[in-house]
Amino acid sequence: MTESVLIPGESDPYPRLAWLREAGPIAYSAPEKVHFLVSYPAAMAFLRSAQVSRQAYVDGLICRHGQNAILTAQKRELAYSDPPHHTFIKRLVMQVFTPAHLRVYRPRLEEVARETIEDLPVDQPFDLLDRWAEPVPSRVLAELLGVPADRRDGLYEATSNLVAARGLARSSEQLAKGNQAVAELTDLFEDLSEQHRRQSQTDLLSALLQAEEEGARLDHISLISVVSSLYAAGFGNTRNLIGNGLVALHSRPEVVASLLEGTASWAGCIEEMLRFDSPTQATNPTVLTEAFTFEDQTLPAQSLVAVHLGACNRDPAHFERPDEFLVDRHPNDHLAFTSGTHFCPGAALVHLQAEILLRGLLEKYQVRFEGPLEWQEMHRFRGLTQLPVRLLPRTV
Ligand code: HEM
Repeated sequence: MTESVLIPGESDPYPRLAWLREAGPIAYSAPEKVHFLVSYPAAMAFLRSAQVSRQAYVDGLICRHGQNAILTAQKRELAYSDPPHHTFIKRLVMQVFTPAHLRVYRPRLEEVARETIEDLPVDQPFDLLDRWAEPVPSRVLAELLGVPADRRDGLYEATSNLVAARGLARSSEQLAKGNQAVAELTDLFEDLSEQHRRQSQTDLLSALLQAEEEGARLDHISLISVVSSLYAAGFGNTRNLIGNGLVALHSRPEVVASLLEGTASWAGCIEEMLRFDSPTQATNPTVLTEAFTFEDQTLPAQSLVAVHLGACNRDPAHFERPDEFLVDRHPNDHLAFTSGTHFCPGAALVHLQAEILLRGLLEKYQVRFEGPLEWQEMHRFRGLTQLPVRLLPRTV
């Protein structure tokens, strides 16, 4: 097809994605030259057995656009690296994001949720995403990573510029800001590394520094890229999960009622939010190092391939009544965090945080929407530009 499989800003992409899936399990997107897996069985076969390289994808970008600070940093991140570098860093990162570690952090999360919900304006319109659903996950991640309160504004701004500069359709102004952001993040984490070396703590930065000092294969630039990319990957998606989830609940008051009565589970609801309107709609592209065959279609080595998670999560070949929001769907083995090597390390944090935040908000308030919904002009991600709401206290 001549138009892209990823159309930014669509209010409802799912009928179009269903049409694509009906045409076949693999859809070619000419503008990006990427083959998208749009059926669940094809995606699983690919994620389980295809021979691929993420690094080769970034090398291709460097060949096309020339070397710049963004691409150099990108090459060291989890999402763009291959084993064994990937395996080594992922293991370190997972030490901080285990369910056991997060259980210890739970009381702190509950405190942050309580405080920030108390602070929200009542019975007047405001943007819930800008005021709450984005800054709270960003603060939580900064805490987990070991960034002190007085450095968080700088981290937020530099990371936002970095993310904007990575878009498929970036302007030269965005690119310049992005390159500047890499320099700022490097300075910030150099500085923090010095402080953490003097006084070790229990955060991710300290764990990574310890690995560096013990002579593990972690160079300093990789360390900085990994920490800033964890932050960048985390808060936008969590913001969008809360926004997209509230949109799904808004037209389903019976689901909210059953959550509040305790006849439906919050964990099940978060799982269904992730499946129903996935914040990450597609994985990063990867290069096939060997041909990949699914049913009667073969993609040759060197093809660029990505999984369209949003399309797979609505595949009727795998999910019964995929276009319905079923809070008790079981099993709900969606691909919102993908599967296999690049499975999202933040998944346990996301489950915990989304449940604490949404439960805290909805137990205290009825959320009324105030104005039309507009979707961000993003390619791989899906979220609202803003969510104007009015909060009304629940009487019972
Ligand atoms: C609703 C929230 C989130 C969603 C839907 C989500 C989704 C995903 C998906 C689909 C991938 C795979 C991308 C690919 O294959 O190219 C991924 C990877 C990743 N995510 Fe998340 N994520 C979320 C939150 C987080 C958080 C809170 C963190 C930080 C702790 C995080 C850090 C990462 C990292 C570092 C990777 C790369 C992992 C790797 O390549 O091995 N994500 N995420």
